[in-house]
Amino acid sequence: MKKDLISMEDLTLDEVKDYLVTAARVEEASLEERVKLLPGRIMAALFFEPSTRTRLSFESAMHRLGGSVIGFAAKDATSVSKGESFTDTIHTVESYSDILVIRHPGEGTGRLAAKESFLPVINAGDGSNQHPTQTLLDLYTIQKDLGKIEGLKIAFVGDLKYSRTVHSLIRALMMFNVTDFTLVAPESLRLPAHFMRTGQPGKFTFHETEHLEEAIRTSDVLYMTRIQRERFPDILEYEKVKDSYVLTAEMLEEAQEHMRVLHPLPRVNEIAYDVDKTKFAGYFPQARNGVIMRQAIILKHLGVSI
Ligand code: CP
Repeated sequence: MKKDLISMEDLTLDEVKDYLVTAARVEEASLEERVKLLPGRIMAALFFEPSTRTRLSFESAMHRLGGSVIGFAAKDATSVSKGESFTDTIHTVESYSDILVIRHPGEGTGRLAAKESFLPVINAGDGSNQHPTQTLLDLYTIQKDLGKIEGLKIAFVGDLKYSRTVHSLIRALMMFNVTDFTLVAPESLRLPAHFMRTGQPGKFTFHETEHLEEAIRTSDVLYMTRIQRERFPDILEYEKVKDSYVLTAEMLEEAQEHMRVLHPLPRVNEIAYDVDKTKFAGYFPQARNGVIMRQAIILKHLGVSI
């Protein structure tokens, strides 16, 4: 078992499957059983960047396991605002807790924290790079909703350039022998080419299109993403593409019966509210699965079995 969870690229397929199995065990266990697992343990949630789901689901997960939580939701309330370095912050907080969960806008900060600290470090999102805990809950959701991961046709829609959730998930899906990807993005937000050069030549098919309708018709999972204003160096470039794709309930009439619409959330305009009431909407159950998967992650990295 690795000390840290930093990138999907560090994991083998067996290790990924092990997180899924542990999450299923968490879901089967009663609340009474779970709350006895981590008494006296402390999780530090260090969020240098905004979050609703990741931070609160990690906190909920730790409380449901009988542990407690310290941390911060914004760096302004910490001594970082007085000039304290990232590594000094890590070395201080590691004396106060048993596991560190870190979100930061800088790519590679999770890896740096893991190198610096003797505690397990969980990357809760580092810039546009990786978001492995989101990927694990996405995989758990796909397996639960569609009964399998292998061989599915997955479409990614929106910001494929800066989206860490896409970057993490696409690697993981490749491990599961998902070979057929549809990529729907405006020209300026296409998936970086190196993702398409991975693996055995010819094994993976990437169909790039600007037409959402085509992806709706052919996919098993439509993974929508937000166009992330905060990642654009030039706000005028954001304005040009911000509403490129808006999924509506009417558009889903063309979808296969079993198709699922997933989204890491938050959404802005890319999924109309009328989609929420359709059978295709999987994004709120997906967010709920975050608490289950994050319980599994905390348990595994603290070496406690369930
Ligand atoms: N999916 C996700 O990372 O959401 P938050 O930014 O709200 O944590």
